[in-house]
Amino acid sequence: MNPSPETIDLLLTRRSLLAAKLIEPGPTQGELETILRCGTRVPDHKGINPWRIQVADRATQDTFHARLPTLHSGDPASLAKTLSKEAKTAPLLLIVSSQATSNRAPRSEQLLSGAVVCQNIIIAAAAFGYRSQWLTEWFAYNDEVKNLLGISTSEEIIGFLYIGSESEIPKERPRPDLSKIVSKLEL
Ligand SMILES: Cc1cc2nc3c(=O)[nH]c(=O)nc-3n(C[C@H](O)[C@H](O)[C@H](O)COP(=O)(O)O)c2cc1C
Repeated sequence: MNPSPETIDLLLTRRSLLAAKLIEPGPTQGELETILRCGTRVPDHKGINPWRIQVADRATQDTFHARLPTLHSGDPASLAKTLSKEAKTAPLLLIVSSQATSNRAPRSEQLLSGAVVCQNIIIAAAAFGYRSQWLTEWFAYNDEVKNLLGISTSEEIIGFLYIGSESEIPKERPRPDLSKIVSKLEL
């Protein structure tokens, strides 16, 4: 493999931006296709391809967000929190789910592979100069939301990935002290 210092730099500097702060322009159709190809080029035990990606443009997001209050149950505070974070300008939303129903690999691994899809999408979008935010909130775990999205209750929604351009540059956030989480294993 050829060294790619640009990739290392991107990984060391990438930051999310709140979904509500994402604006036009979003990825072009060609960029989106590349983002999706990067997103699905991930480790996947037994090559199951358990994931599914739904693409929601601005109009579909508006419909989706408008339906959320009618589907919400439980703690009203979580709905208020969602509505305050609502992405009103993000050009693109990708909803990544995983069926994780195959018995050829552990279910947890099929879900983890879906998480890698999400992260690859975020990195590929960043490589094109876009910002993103990975959200789950309550609506990733709500069966009525799944029903609205045509996702069966046996599937798991791994992430709502909002993607767009930055309306501001996010501040850096603290990163882990490696000495606290990395150690040499000696047996
Ligand atoms: C699986 C997963 C679910 C998340 N769900 C939410 C969420 O529901 N609400 C939220 O505010 N942040 C959520 N986050 C965190 C945001 O994506 C956050 O912006 C991000 O962790 C910031 O870190 P970064 O700048 O290193 O990307 C989630 C992150 C992950 C990995």
